[in-house]
Amino acid sequence: MPNSFPSPWWKNAVIYQVYPRSFADANGDGIGDLSGLTARLDHLQHLGVDALWLSPVFRSPMCDAGYDICDYTDVDPLFGTLAHLDELIAQAHGRGLKVLLDFVPNHTSDQHPWFIESRSSRDNPKRDWYIWRDQPNNWRASIDGGSAWTWDETSQQYYLHFFLPQQPDLNWHNPEVVTAMHQVLHFWLQRGVDGFRVDVVHCVGKDPSFADDPRCMAGETMVKINDQPYSHEVLRGLRRLVDSYPGERVLIGEVNIRSTAQVAAYYGASDELHMSFNFPPLDAPWDPVVFRMCIREVENDLGPLLAWPTWVLSNHDNSRHRSRYGGSLRRAQAAAVLLLTLRGTPFIYQGEELGLEDTVVTAQTRVDPGGRDGSRAPLPWAVQAPHGWAGAAPWLPFAPDADALAVEVQEGAADSTLGLYRRLLACRRRSLALRLGAWEELPSHPQVLAYRRHCDGDERLVCINFADSEHTFPLAEAWQVEIASDGVDEGQVFSGRLAAEQAVILCR
Ligand code: GLC
Ligand code: CA
Repeated sequence: MPNSFPSPWWKNAVIYQVYPRSFADANGDGIGDLSGLTARLDHLQHLGVDALWLSPVFRSPMCDAGYDICDYTDVDPLFGTLAHLDELIAQAHGRGLKVLLDFVPNHTSDQHPWFIESRSSRDNPKRDWYIWRDQPNNWRASIDGGSAWTWDETSQQYYLHFFLPQQPDLNWHNPEVVTAMHQVLHFWLQRGVDGFRVDVVHCVGKDPSFADDPRCMAGETMVKINDQPYSHEVLRGLRRLVDSYPGERVLIGEVNIRSTAQVAAYYGASDELHMSFNFPPLDAPWDPVVFRMCIREVENDLGPLLAWPTWVLSNHDNSRHRSRYGGSLRRAQAAAVLLLTLRGTPFIYQGEELGLEDTVVTAQTRVDPGGRDGSRAPLPWAVQAPHGWAGAAPWLPFAPDADALAVEVQEGAADSTLGLYRRLLACRRRSLALRLGAWEELPSHPQVLAYRRHCDGDERLVCINFADSEHTFPLAEAWQVEIASDGVDEGQVFSGRLAAEQAVILCR
């Protein structure tokens, strides 16, 4: 179904993050691939999402699951070929689904030909494409938490890496790097992609003085704190490039700084990112105080700037929200109502529509050096093991209850988590207020978060009871339960009672 909402499409959209190696496997090697994803597009279309963002599928030695790229314009054989990606884009577009790729500008793989050249000698023309120093400073890297500098024996200098030593940082202060990376974006935009999720984009500008950072002394990594004016200049260049293509292509930034006010700056004056991830809810426990704070912060810091918010509860780097909420499916379902009714574009991480928890990883099954395997388990499609993953055992063990939570089971059950997500997405599609309307908090019990969304005469009330006991939310007029997180009383007049850990959307 083509998207028929007022533009821009991305403000009206629900975006689904695909983690390709765990979505679906077509060739039976136990690793998800592009053909597997294309074959399962029905699932996403029935769910009702508008766009897919694919975590990286480019050529990579896979030291960081594809976030270490050695060829930005080719597909890794693990996932298929360029032709398979073209096919996916064509099929998705045929169904009215947009496709966003992951752009990783901050670093390449140490196996990228650029870095192989750069490290070959100090006078190599690509030496300055990366960041080389005689002396390291105290900057700390992510994933292993060690120094951000690694000594290169051949050329007798240190190179900088904000992540693993196998992920050297590019020097965006060199204009040849800017041109080369712009070519990457042109390549994909010409192939028809609708935009990019831009990996740790706040890291591309580096402090030119290379001064020690006292926060690293205290154990903080650069990825959480790097915030340099030059990154904004880089972003303005990316935005101009993307805007030169027809059809509202979009840049969504991973600005991994845990401060909404600082993140707001990366929207620029509508000349940098279109949207930026909002991370505080990704760390948040099941607590109305924390959520109230997160939401008010977004409304106060982004609202006046007309910076469009985003909402995300789970992704491939963090524990799934159901696991963070103590494994409670009821809470995860109530949180889905929250995610899909706040003001801004929601992101669904594959598997949350099934109510998956983190998989249990042991020393034997561990893959990620950063300990982030929990949320990366393969999706269970069928009841019977190996749950639709033909042949070999998949690359990570399935999450708990894979049989009961399999797509095949939930498809047929209206009261399933999948059923709830489908109803929620359909409800958003019907309601201008939920998609684009203003957000206004309503007075309620401290354990109940209640708000009103409204736009052009369309109106919804949303109430989320965080407590493990019933609460009342009396209303003067008659409202109808449009959606309930537990499915109870949908279509009935709202009784004024919220069951424990229940969320409802009310309409007139
Ligand atoms: C981002 C990705 C993460 C990756 C890192 C380095 O934070 O989400 O998975 O390890 O960047 O590219
Ligand atoms: Ca495969």
